[in-house]
Amino acid sequence: MTDFKELIANEIFDEALGLDTDEIKSMIEIPADDNMGDYAFPCFRLAKTLRKAPQQIAADIAEKAKGSEAFEKVENVNAYVNFFIDRAFFAGDVVKEVTEKGSSYGRSEVGAGKKVIVEYSSPNIAKPFHIGHIRSTVIGNALYKLYDACGYDTIRINYLGDYGTQFGKMIVAYRKWGSEEELAEEPIKALLGYYTRFHKEAEADPSLEDEARETFAKLEAGAPEETELWKKFRELSLAEFNRVYGMLGIEFDSYKGESFYSDKMPRFIRELKEKNLLVESQGAQIVDLDEYGLGAAMITKSDGSSLYVTRDIAAAVYRKETYDFYKCIYVVASQQNLHFKQWKKVLELMGYEWQEDCVHVPFGLVSLSDGDDIKTMSTREGKVVFLEDVLNTAVSKTAEIMKEKDVQGVDVDEVSKEVGIGAVIFQELSNNRIKDYVFSWDKVLNFDGETGPYVQYTHARACSVLRRAEETDLAAVEGAEIDSAYLGSDSAYTLAKLIYRVPEVVIEAADKYEPSILTRHLVDIAQAFNKFYHDEHILVDDENERRAKLALVAAAKTVISNCLGLLGISAPERM
Ligand code: ARG
Repeated sequence: MTDFKELIANEIFDEALGLDTDEIKSMIEIPADDNMGDYAFPCFRLAKTLRKAPQQIAADIAEKAKGSEAFEKVENVNAYVNFFIDRAFFAGDVVKEVTEKGSSYGRSEVGAGKKVIVEYSSPNIAKPFHIGHIRSTVIGNALYKLYDACGYDTIRINYLGDYGTQFGKMIVAYRKWGSEEELAEEPIKALLGYYTRFHKEAEADPSLEDEARETFAKLEAGAPEETELWKKFRELSLAEFNRVYGMLGIEFDSYKGESFYSDKMPRFIRELKEKNLLVESQGAQIVDLDEYGLGAAMITKSDGSSLYVTRDIAAAVYRKETYDFYKCIYVVASQQNLHFKQWKKVLELMGYEWQEDCVHVPFGLVSLSDGDDIKTMSTREGKVVFLEDVLNTAVSKTAEIMKEKDVQGVDVDEVSKEVGIGAVIFQELSNNRIKDYVFSWDKVLNFDGETGPYVQYTHARACSVLRRAEETDLAAVEGAEIDSAYLGSDSAYTLAKLIYRVPEVVIEAADKYEPSILTRHLVDIAQAFNKFYHDEHILVDDENERRAKLALVAAAKTVISNCLGLLGISAPERM
């Protein structure tokens, strides 16, 4: 791809300036006002060296640069030289680049040689995988893909909540009221049922609580029968989670959860003691963080068992020692802000400077609008909406819409999955992640709004145009042997400009941990494509014009598909 700044720097370069091309490049600005061109070069700094008025310098540079075919116009306004890129040249250049790079267009190597861990999803086992989990799961997956696209070496971790006193309760309840058949049939619903029943019965019979504590102590000590049951609960839960991950197309490199660190804590408790950071408080061991406005971080409970913060300390050190990460990203709800602040502070006080490379990426809450017809289930905490039910509903609703629209030549079963699930993911990644939002079917599945289906439909539309094209045209398009003079229109230029920015948008979205930056850019691309499609005749008689336009259509199709892929969404060719 033409590096326009480089091109401009080369035009401007002159020994007499006393600047090398990199210095010149760094001085080039992008004017806020389109009327001032695509790039501008201010000449104030050169006045001293050249002993000339900045206006005169600007005029001289403009005169010299006029010859370049890359610019439609070069003019000076006072001390600025304004460069107007030749639109057709630019669009042709973008098309060529996308054609050459294909599915890797948008990727870069800025992160080469650096390891990034993305920890996401991390549900608690034996608990429902509910709508609230979609956020960490989908945002985390998109962040992983964005970092991967920036050339980082990525590791995906699912830090399963597979440890804690609740397993004592679960085991007690299962032994008293559970059955193997029930568990095999719908494990999470069964386990949740036992858990709920435990709490109800424990109100009347507090001795159950003691029994649960003892059982958990046995589990901690590695007693075979308890461990066997815990393993079973874990496996059955994971199988259910994996079903949902499968629907979402999500994978992990490691499922090392809280239990993995259960025996790795003494080292840190010792270390905290040695560093004089532990204080006793009502039988528990804490790190006092009052002076930082962070309260107290509980390290061990009065019964000596370890806590969430402690396990996270052990996990962070393990990850540093195992992977020597450049960055470790935690995609976890903003409700846990205090936990992560405490944990980072403790690591810092322990002298682990790399804690600065651990980043908590928080997000807001998702709630359901009233009257939504998703199946809900009551638990002790209130209503639970299973994520799997949401995804299934999205698919069946999409299938209904597709049948209503009577789309031809499409495998509704297959495509409704891609579109329905894609719609849910897209919605999840549309807003600034920190915002709370209300889940609503009308918004998710609207084919005309700024939604997943809209973008996918745009992609399918581009595919359909290409299907109607002649084979000889497509061959020319693939070789990008096109006459870009036909790509000078406003709508072609707007589309090309948006496509051109994709690689930098991907980097920005990763740097800011904000997939919505890419989602919104993708909506802009889809809208620009649709404008181009409506404004222009694409399959015109003139062969050269037709091929040039088809090449832009093909580039848009590739880019939309690539960007959807980076968000974790598929791009069906027909819908
Ligand atoms: N399992 C926890 C939950 O469901 C989330 C774990 C977040 N990650 C962490 N490293 N603490 O609330």
